[in-house]
Amino acid sequence: MLEAHHLGKSYRLGDNEVTALADVSLTFPRGSITTIVGRSGCGKTTLLRLLAGLEQPSSGELRRSEGGPQRIGVVFQEARLMPWLDVAGNVAFGLRRRLPPEAIAERSRAALDMVGLSAFAEAMPGQLSGGMAQRVAIARALVMEPDLLLLDEPFAALDAFTRRAMQNELIAIWQRKRPTIVFVTHDVEEAVLLGEHVLELERGRVVGHEPVALPFPRDPTTAEVNDHRRRILAKLTAPSPASAPLPEAAANAIAT
Ligand SMILES: Nc1ncnc2c1ncn2[C@@H]1O[C@H](COP(=O)(O)OP(=O)(O)OP(=O)(O)O)[C@@H](O)[C@H]1O
Ligand SMILES: [Mg+2]
Repeated sequence: MLEAHHLGKSYRLGDNEVTALADVSLTFPRGSITTIVGRSGCGKTTLLRLLAGLEQPSSGELRRSEGGPQRIGVVFQEARLMPWLDVAGNVAFGLRRRLPPEAIAERSRAALDMVGLSAFAEAMPGQLSGGMAQRVAIARALVMEPDLLLLDEPFAALDAFTRRAMQNELIAIWQRKRPTIVFVTHDVEEAVLLGEHVLELERGRVVGHEPVALPFPRDPTTAEVNDHRRRILAKLTAPSPASAPLPEAAANAIAT
């Protein structure tokens, strides 16, 4: 179980202070899949970086309870591949010296297979399209068999067909291995298709929590998905002055 208690993060920008995240309290139950949706600049990446331990909060704290995540996998908004290593080398990088070479090769092959890039193991990053590079980044996270998988708009660069396939693949992997997944997106439909819980983030605050109880894989053309989508959009587009106090329930989304 991973918990955020009153997490806040501010940055200094010249003489000003930018509040990227303000007082976010959340619980991510072990093995759950949560999506976080919100417009550009609302603090999604900041929240993910704090959850990953890549940055320290300005206020509040993260708690990892007994049996909490040990191995954290992160997929960033950009692929960030190492240009001097081929695709297989990029995927295997985190496993080096941890396993015998044959086991590393085997796991890397399986991870590349999951993202549909088996044929490109020997390609160099510069020879890949943006979407392919992003799929390599996903394979690089999966190969570590993380128990907490943090994904920052991982499918934003993909065409609609590949994106659907990757969404389904992610759900299949989640159902097979049950990592705790936190998935950030600005796409409300994607948030509904992938989340057991959808959290709405606005100006650094959690302004809504939409539980989605539909079975996986979900069909974007169904009325149920559309209903959730409409409700979330209505909440996100409703005027919400930065000074307005948050309802307690929203601030404590997924209280368990
Ligand atoms: N290192 C930094 N220094 C200063 N300000 C920052 C820094 N990182 C983020 N911010 C500010 O914090 C706010 C939230 O940024 P963040 O990257 O978390 O947004 P986001 O929701 O991920 O947006 P996007 O959808 O465009 O990726 C923005 O106002 C941004 O300018
Ligand atoms: Mg971002």
